[in-house]
Amino acid sequence: MNTELGIMEKIVSLCKRRGFIYPSSEIYGGFSGFWNYGHYGSILKENIKCLWKQRFIFDRDDMFVTDTSIISNPKVLESSGHVSNFGNEIFKIQVGTGDEAVTSHLRPETAQGIFADFKNLVDAHHPKLPFGVGQIGKAFRNEISPRDFVFRSREFEQMEVEYFTKEEEWSEHLENWREIMNSFAREVGIEKVHELEVSQDDRAHYSKRTIDFQFDYPFGRGELWGLAYRTDFDLKNHNLDYFDEEAGKRFVPHVVEPSLGVDRTVLAVLLSAYTEDELGGEPRTYLKLNKNIAPVRAAVFPLLKNKPILVKKASEVYENLKLEARSKQLGTIVFDNNGNIGKRYRRQDEIGTPYCITIDFDTLKDDTVTIRDRDTGEQVRVSLKDLVSRITA
Ligand code: GAP
Repeated sequence: MNTELGIMEKIVSLCKRRGFIYPSSEIYGGFSGFWNYGHYGSILKENIKCLWKQRFIFDRDDMFVTDTSIISNPKVLESSGHVSNFGNEIFKIQVGTGDEAVTSHLRPETAQGIFADFKNLVDAHHPKLPFGVGQIGKAFRNEISPRDFVFRSREFEQMEVEYFTKEEEWSEHLENWREIMNSFAREVGIEKVHELEVSQDDRAHYSKRTIDFQFDYPFGRGELWGLAYRTDFDLKNHNLDYFDEEAGKRFVPHVVEPSLGVDRTVLAVLLSAYTEDELGGEPRTYLKLNKNIAPVRAAVFPLLKNKPILVKKASEVYENLKLEARSKQLGTIVFDNNGNIGKRYRRQDEIGTPYCITIDFDTLKDDTVTIRDRDTGEQVRVSLKDLVSRITA
């Protein structure tokens, strides 16, 4: 068997074993193209989405956030060209019953909700160009052959920005978003991103220029995210425009769109983080996740599970750390008292926990604990008062 394909199988198995991702409806044999995120998968996904919102929206002064409905008036996807261009790929649904029933579709991209709301946003906030709107939400495509785990599914999530600009400025903004996307890739720990200029024949019906951000998956190089220049195509089709007060004229803004699939991001993050090495003469598997997105920031253990005095102290350390972590937004802290210490380390390594904190008999004497680094396995003794700064660094 090809070892690269072996890695994919190992990831799928780790995701199931450790509660990241399961096939949807598994007890009934699954359902092709649909996946469920378990406890750690949901936290990982949420951490990625929070970071995206921070970098693409809240760190900037020119961005709005929105949350539009998945199902819309059928005219939205008819006007956008999706019904005619994506004909077989969009899910048809019936809304209402009997004579009142209307045929609509599940959205194949979150973008149209933003375009269709353009007038509401302008009327409410009176933004000056350039400005953008970001949204995270589900999208659905009736893919003919869903494949490669969550890479190509029928229900997935997107993190999209529609950035509105004057026509003459689109290229400068495209370059800017390109840098932000590359820097986001680095921040979530995705290696090996390649940019591909998409040829006219391969571009979507609305795009005049598209850069695909590609990743080297074990099954080959494939699309991770897209960055498109959508021109004034969408706003024009919805008969929407903008009044520029400074210029004293009405026109249709142009759009640059960074579109990031959440599920492909999760997959690329897991593949980049998956590591096999040897520690203390034993083979081990761990996820070298960046600590800003790891589902668990730190795990707290008593050295021995059957010594009540250690368990009590470990519980106190855990409760205090949990409160501090909450106020500093450090993520999840867990308490683990199952199995022996070696098993606990292996479990935490496999879900990518950067720090394991052990409470032992010395802790009772001098309020120091050991803190173990996931990547090196090295343990150092630190004072309880320095614990938060150690797991923050
Ligand atoms: N609004 C633009 C748009 O939807 P796209 O390239 O068709 O463009 C954007 O999709 C991103 O959504 C892709 O780069 C990918 O990350 C994700 N995506 C698209 N189809 C997908 C599928 N079937 N399964 C998982 N993710 C998908």
